[in-house]
Amino acid sequence: MTDILPEETERFVRAALPEADETLKAMEERGEGFPTVGREVGQFLRLLAHAVDAERIFEFGSGFGYSAYWFADALPEDGEIVLTEYDADELREAREFLESAGFADRAVFENGDAMDAIERHDGPFDVVLIDHNKDGYPEALEAVRDKVAPGGVVVADNAMVSGIQDFDAILAALEGDDPELDEDSRGIAEYLLTMREDETFETSVVPLGEGIAVSYRR
Ligand SMILES: C[S@@+](CC[C@H](N)C(=O)[O-])C[C@H]1O[C@@H](n2cnc3c(N)ncnc32)[C@H](O)[C@@H]1O
Repeated sequence: MTDILPEETERFVRAALPEADETLKAMEERGEGFPTVGREVGQFLRLLAHAVDAERIFEFGSGFGYSAYWFADALPEDGEIVLTEYDADELREAREFLESAGFADRAVFENGDAMDAIERHDGPFDVVLIDHNKDGYPEALEAVRDKVAPGGVVVADNAMVSGIQDFDAILAALEGDDPELDEDSRGIAEYLLTMREDETFETSVVPLGEGIAVSYRR
């Protein structure tokens, strides 16, 4: 897999982050080998949620709640984050972790397909994280687009790499070629191309973690 940042730069970014609390340490231990967004992106997500004064957040793909932990920390007590996850055991763990951090009352847990869950929740959302099946990113964007508050942000994880997508093919598609793309790479490439052309959003790919595309809703 392509390295996004040189090792030394990654160490530098990590070293400048605040200390992890006990819940975060336990989550990171649990997360070994699991594709969480990672601490650098987690901190950035919390910063984004604070920057837009987020009150409502929706996640496509929550796993055991690692990214949701960061978001929930930025919400006011009466804020809301909707977690979605196919895997009931992971979602139960998410509930337990958020309970131990004191954030469970801000969380709504949706077990099943995120694409069904988004239909059950009206907007507006101040922050949306797209981090579920990579071939589903374009469809998720269409489902949530009109529910993103003006001034809100959509963040797509794995904008650059993951264990299952083809970095070179996605880059070629962004540069105007017509490469052969597997389904996951196509999902990411289509998502980035759509966001690039969409004048209601302003997008930057930020090379933290596995790369996040951050799109501001004008
Ligand atoms: C990359 S992990 C999410 C990580 C999480 N955002 C974090 O940072 O900890 C993706 C998760 O999405 C779940 N998933 C994939 N497609 C989904 C779908 N359509 N609906 C609900 N969950 C889905 C997978 O089971 C997996 O746990």
